[in-house]
Amino acid sequence: MAGRIPQSFIDDLIARADIVEVINTRVPLKKKGREYTACCPFHNEKTPSFTVSEAKQFYHCFGCGAHGTAIGFLMEYEHLDFVDAIETLAAEYHVEVPREDTPAGTSQARDDKQPLFDVLEQASQLYQQQLRSSERAIGYLKQRGLSGEIARRYKLGYAPDGWNFLLDNMGSNASNINHLKAAGMLVEKSPGKRYDRFRDRIMFPILDRRGHTIAFGGRIIDDGEPKYLNSPETPIFHKGYELYGFYEARQALRNLQRIVVVEGYMDVVALAQNGIEYAVASLGTATTKDQIQKLFRSVHQLIFCYDGDQAGQKAAWRALENTLPILRDGLEARFLFLPDGEDPDSMVRKEGKDAFEKRLENATPLSEFLFDKLLKEIDTRSMDGKARLAKTARPLLSTIPESVFRDLMYKRLSELVGISDDKLQGEIVSTEAEKVNKQPTTRSRGNREVKQNATRDAIALLLQHPELAGETNLPDFFASASIQGFSLLYALYQIARDNPAISSSALLERWRDKGDFEILQKLMQRNVFGTDEKSGQLAVFNDAIQRLTMKLNDERFEILETKLKQGGLSEAELEEYKSLLTR
Ligand code: GTP
Ligand code: MN
Repeated sequence: MAGRIPQSFIDDLIARADIVEVINTRVPLKKKGREYTACCPFHNEKTPSFTVSEAKQFYHCFGCGAHGTAIGFLMEYEHLDFVDAIETLAAEYHVEVPREDTPAGTSQARDDKQPLFDVLEQASQLYQQQLRSSERAIGYLKQRGLSGEIARRYKLGYAPDGWNFLLDNMGSNASNINHLKAAGMLVEKSPGKRYDRFRDRIMFPILDRRGHTIAFGGRIIDDGEPKYLNSPETPIFHKGYELYGFYEARQALRNLQRIVVVEGYMDVVALAQNGIEYAVASLGTATTKDQIQKLFRSVHQLIFCYDGDQAGQKAAWRALENTLPILRDGLEARFLFLPDGEDPDSMVRKEGKDAFEKRLENATPLSEFLFDKLLKEIDTRSMDGKARLAKTARPLLSTIPESVFRDLMYKRLSELVGISDDKLQGEIVSTEAEKVNKQPTTRSRGNREVKQNATRDAIALLLQHPELAGETNLPDFFASASIQGFSLLYALYQIARDNPAISSSALLERWRDKGDFEILQKLMQRNVFGTDEKSGQLAVFNDAIQRLTMKLNDERFEILETKLKQGGLSEAELEEYKSLLTR
């Protein structure tokens, strides 16, 4: 089993790699001013909005919002995980990836996952084989209008009846049992008593972006409960993130233009059978933000397709709520409601590809769905109703990223309620600003104006210029400060200080699996004013640190003051209070 890759090697490799080179060999770049541009490889576009900054070693697409380091690009573009991306990069720079000796039991997460992929692949093969020899299963799929070719393309299988099919056919040694259990294929009701989760079911393998089987959905043949059974969450399967049929759609169509999001496995497969090869299904839950974001990386149009009934309306609304925060200019979401009693499977079989695609083309734009639904629920003929509409719509609209689309939505709302759109938007901005500023800051020495962005400026500067760490001393108490951002700043500072040669991207990559990665990616792109010159950077950074220190002192002072008024400061606290008072 391969050991861990030393952190220092990763840092060096990232520092050595040039993002312009890495991307240019895959997506030819054109120089434009200080940056490089191309048509974005992650969404469809005709004019380039994908830019690569050599100085920041970072790419960003203004169209779809994709962004990241050279490693991030490789992961996204070649569908690799982090370790694969490091290996690819190393190969390009002709260096060998060293591995640390790992004591038994501490191997990398990646090595723990591989056996799960392996057993699921093996299971999938076995199920496909079983399908070929089960007349019952073949008969069922035929009766549902599916051809052998489509069954092969979607790797449909059949899990035979019985309790021990997998163990009987894959070997029941301890490691196989453990891997099958971890992959969700075995159920263990009591210790040592285990059996196949899927029995006598049509099997739909769920593939990840690289085409690895990561889970299954199983449908009962004919009637019975439950109709569908899904793999549980496992280390390699997260329902809210994966989509059924996405890999197959991308395989079928090199240049995906749009994607239809449906509810069922059968819907995806039946649509493909009828020539609509760009459908995906969320996995038995509402479509999540992660899923929508993932889809918008590949296409600029999504059509959510639901049954016309109450449940369908509800699911559509959830999808709308999850889409709004992701809708940047250039992206489009629509909603298609089918007649009562129909689902995409029955519909496309009844009326064929062309008629179904016509429905897709005429699907309701998100904006229309949103306002129609609200207007159906709220009678805006009265003043009261208008106010209620404004109150209901504003929180929704406020989640849309700044864009022409967002402005148009506010304009529409303003027409409906008769309040200027500036006012509608403005009030939201001010309530948000109030929230941020609602910090207790009254004190006898007068308020100290702390620029709201000082923490972010400091983090951005340090991230973009890690060498600043060597020239500054950050107070230790930052590490334990409860103010948002301070501990992150301190953590960055420590790594940068202890690794004087670390590059900006390498510093960022250390956060890839941590909670603040997205925030740091954003800050990597932040332009902090007046920071082109080294001395300027240091001055701005020190200034930010100073302001933060004061802010922290202010807060500490207040705590002590309150405590003092209540009559209880210890000797040490009193000293601290005095020193803060005389600063
Ligand atoms: P068919 O009846 O085979 O046409 O199924 P369908 O694809 O039309 O499914 P349906 O509209 O009934 O349900 C949509 C999706 O919800 C399915 O693909 C499953 O992912 C999920 N689902 C449906 N029934 C069940 C169930 O009994 N249990 C679970 N866990 N999920 C279900
Ligand atoms: Mn159905």
